[in-house]
Amino acid sequence: MRVLSGIQPTGNLHLGNYLGAIRNWVKMQDEMDSASQCFFFLADMHSITVHEGREQRLRNVREMAAALVACGIDPERSVLFNQARVPAHAELCWLLNGTARIGWLNRMTQFKDKAGKNREGVSIGLYVYPVLQAADVLLYQATHVPVGEDQKQHLELTRDIAIKFNTDFEREVFTLPDPIIPKETARIMSLRDGSAKMSKSDPSDQSRINLTDDDDAIAQKVRKAKTDPEPLPSEAKGLEGRPEALNLVGIYAAMAGTSADQVCAQFAGQGFGAFKPALADLLVSSLHPIRERYVALKDDQAALDAILVKGAEKAAAAAEPTLRAAYDAMGLMR
Ligand code: TYM
Repeated sequence: MRVLSGIQPTGNLHLGNYLGAIRNWVKMQDEMDSASQCFFFLADMHSITVHEGREQRLRNVREMAAALVACGIDPERSVLFNQARVPAHAELCWLLNGTARIGWLNRMTQFKDKAGKNREGVSIGLYVYPVLQAADVLLYQATHVPVGEDQKQHLELTRDIAIKFNTDFEREVFTLPDPIIPKETARIMSLRDGSAKMSKSDPSDQSRINLTDDDDAIAQKVRKAKTDPEPLPSEAKGLEGRPEALNLVGIYAAMAGTSADQVCAQFAGQGFGAFKPALADLLVSSLHPIRERYVALKDDQAALDAILVKGAEKAAAAAEPTLRAAYDAMGLMR
């Protein structure tokens, strides 16, 4: 079993990242047997599709590394690194550009969402972004890729690229990866709009809970979260057509480690005046220790850099045989 996943080091880690992906990373790491390996990385090469100054980008990578460690990623057991330190990602991306088809990339909904009406004005990097993501996964022969729902299409593309490459060059160079998407928390929604996902790029900070928010900020965001005037139903199916209520109940269930049905049973007939303070308390008590670990780590530049350098060395060594096999299959002398 080879587990691999990545996160863009742009902005803060938010509750959607945590419940959709990072919590699963930690769980898979903790349940790993000795024959398996986990690779987690900061997708700083992907982050060039978002404009950022030099200092900000350097800071973001270290801060996101600190956030992952604070959430429970253990650099002794998992390989934690930043993509830019492992040039094999960019190299394999270029090779795969010969395999990926324009028609496939044209179907990517994330590109369409991010480009919006400005398709001609966005960078080529944004367009080929999913090919670099395919390289990230295929380089390590990853079998399991824990992600949120929004990355599912990129992983389907990764599989298509791997199949076409293996077929075209008549060699099993790449393993086909499976996405691991949590059922209940695959898509955590914005606190301001139950039809939009919680996202780093939402201009309103009130739309998300950042793992760096202090206790008061968390409580205030929950208090102000959009809801409806109805009381909570006794079963989760009564939340149909109430996206904001469904989202908050889902967050409560995920944080408490129970089901939406159980949460509804507990709060049946009560309004949000009763539910929101309970949700705020639960979030504060769960996120407080993560924030404390994060604050203790985030300014220790030397320690963070040492983790990332060591991780990159291990990642480069693990990537090398696959990269070599890809060059060789294509008849490229290296
Ligand atoms: P990114 O940085 O946008 O998000 C990191 C992870 O968090 C998940 N996620 C969510 N899950 C549930 N609800 C939400 N509201 C929510 N928002 C984000 C994402 O699904 C993701 O798992 N392209 C990727 C990074 C990447 C990658 C890879 C991932 C680069 N190469 C290779 C896996 C394998 C991205 O931008 O994720």
